[in-house]
Amino acid sequence: MNVGVSRREHWRGRNEIVLKIVGRRLPGPFDFESPSVFPVSRQVRRQPLGYDIRAMLKIIDMEFTERERAEERERVAARERRLVAEAGEATAKFRAIFDQSSIFSGVLSVDGIVVDANRICLEACGYTADDVLGLKFWETPWWRGSEEVKEKIRVATIEAAKGRAYREELPYWCADGSERVVDFAIHPVRDESDEIIFLHPTGMDITERMQTELELRTTRAELEERVRERTAELNKANESLRNLSARLLHIRDEEARRLARELHDSAGQMLSAMAMNIASIASQAHKLDERGAKAMEENSALVEQISTEIRTISYLLHPPLLDELGLRSALTWYVEGFSERSKIKVDLEIAADFGRLSTERETAIFRIVQECLTNIHRHSGSKTAVIRILQENDRLTIVAEDAGKGIPADKLGMRPDGQAGVGFRGMAERLRYLGGNLNLKSNANGSVVTATMPLEADDSSRA
Ligand SMILES: Nc1ncnc2c1ncn2[C@@H]1O[C@H](COP(=O)(O)OP(=O)(O)OP(=O)(O)O)[C@@H](O)[C@H]1O
Ligand SMILES: [Mg+2]
Repeated sequence: MNVGVSRREHWRGRNEIVLKIVGRRLPGPFDFESPSVFPVSRQVRRQPLGYDIRAMLKIIDMEFTERERAEERERVAARERRLVAEAGEATAKFRAIFDQSSIFSGVLSVDGIVVDANRICLEACGYTADDVLGLKFWETPWWRGSEEVKEKIRVATIEAAKGRAYREELPYWCADGSERVVDFAIHPVRDESDEIIFLHPTGMDITERMQTELELRTTRAELEERVRERTAELNKANESLRNLSARLLHIRDEEARRLARELHDSAGQMLSAMAMNIASIASQAHKLDERGAKAMEENSALVEQISTEIRTISYLLHPPLLDELGLRSALTWYVEGFSERSKIKVDLEIAADFGRLSTERETAIFRIVQECLTNIHRHSGSKTAVIRILQENDRLTIVAEDAGKGIPADKLGMRPDGQAGVGFRGMAERLRYLGGNLNLKSNANGSVVTATMPLEADDSSRA
């Protein structure tokens, strides 16, 4: 029993079992029938009654040691098998990912030799492993179509081996000779100690994307071209419309001038003749009866009246003063007549030494003032108006101001859809033709119409 006690100190668990058994069963035979409870050999189990316990413990000890070694060996082997299996599994997973990836992926040694290339690198391009493995990366058939691309790949590989990644969209070639485009990159791969252990080139085929982009760009360029063409056509149409309206305005002015002259020269002259005839009859009025003398007097007054009206109409159509003496006189005459007819007090401000301008400009300015005053009379309700003609820094400005109810907001925009009348649009057209512009300002206290135009060199020559 002493042996058992001393062994307990070293092999506690195991000897406890032994001692328990010894204590329980001594001196009878051991019941070692269940090897799972006490797994010793048949030799121990077959010990007869009255055995030598010391010898038996020695055998047990030996058997345990041997069993333990075997178990240890088995554990090591199992661990090894597990590790190998795990490694195999990991490799298979990596291979599956590597090969089934839709991205070109390869492995290069640090000096640029192709060590591995995934399936898409080979199959999609029509190459076999033999075509590429073992070659310098830049000498592989993917880059065979261009010396420049080969050189780029060579430099990129060397740079990657120095730790610098590289990326560029490059052309590459398939076995059938077709050229495609790849979004190519090459990265260094490092181990735990930060040393570069291999290079990892990757790529994504972007041929279709590039084609779509190209088609889109082409379509867009075509569309832009068409828009440019249409815009040019529209501009041309607008230009010819403007020219037409400028021409129409010019024709209207000429027509007015011709009509004015006609009225003045033919009807006016005839009326003058008629007045002279009436005057000669009047000298013999004593020969007429009372009714005849009255009718003659009335005729004389009527002829006088018609004469005056015809002259007014003729002058309004085209004031002869405009051609003869210029704007200042023509405007002064017109404003006076307007005030008288409309009962609107008009203040005309124009320099006393206002010079002559080209016929075109003088006519335009006269017509603009005429239209402004007509508008004030027809629409504003104002009892006063101010017309200012200013000339400064080679620019002429016409300002027409009233103290009326203001121009309605929708008319202020002068939209070409017919909201504004012919008046404003005609003014704007005249001014545009002469390189100027029209500005309308208005509120509940009145309106200010401002027209400006540049003065040209030829204008001062008539001064
Ligand atoms: N001084 C003003 N005060 C108030 N409203 C004005 C004045 N001038 C113009 N308007 C408004 O602006 C509109 C457009 O004027 P525009 O001269 O273009 O046309 P119109 O006088 O109506 O017709 P048209 O001049 O063709 O005979 C007028 O109908 C009127 O409503
Ligand atoms: Mg008008």
